[in-house]
Amino acid sequence: MKRVAILISGGGSNMVALANSMTGDHAARPVLVVSNDAAAVGLAKARDLSIATDVVDHREFGKDRAAFEDVLATKLEDAQPDIICLAGFMRILTEGFTARYEGRMLNIHPSLLPKYKGLHTHQRALDAGDDVHGCSVHEVTSALDDGPILGQARIAVTAQDTADILAARLLPFEHALYVAVLRRYAAGDRRMVHLPFDPVGL
Ligand code: GRF
Repeated sequence: MKRVAILISGGGSNMVALANSMTGDHAARPVLVVSNDAAAVGLAKARDLSIATDVVDHREFGKDRAAFEDVLATKLEDAQPDIICLAGFMRILTEGFTARYEGRMLNIHPSLLPKYKGLHTHQRALDAGDDVHGCSVHEVTSALDDGPILGQARIAVTAQDTADILAARLLPFEHALYVAVLRRYAAGDRRMVHLPFDPVGL
């Protein structure tokens, strides 16, 4: 059984979807949820799911990213994870950290990579006049939002969409995609996951 640690920074809706999916014949189980923010609402959701939680507040380390990551890595090593899922985790990780977990760390990014790496992806898609938007799950490497893509989901952009509406319409597809990718990934299957295109949104 593969052990999965999930890193969050906020609401943790992707974490909840992943945790709820790891049952039955799924090859993995959640063992730890760590947040860089003690106020992250997702921590209470993880506790409600009886998943061990921990906090490493990045603000205690100022600009010293490596020091923050050393403590984070110590917490993770205690849980002995086989797979790490970044799920709404909003800290940029250094090459030292990503190298330690390369090949077993995943991230969900709310754009159709390689488009729109970084932040404000929904507004950038609207500003570009894109007809299609979506999300990507990729392996994490030292380059931001740039590792091998393991799955994508696409939704149509409508004339009524604002960045907030688009983000809200996309979120359920993030959940479905991340769940589908992790199920395969935990079973050692690296085939790409393509969710069906959704012309009108959930
Ligand atoms: C999601 O859009 C995710 O793609 C982004 O953070 C948002 C919130 O994620 N990285 P969650 O609800 O905390 O999982």
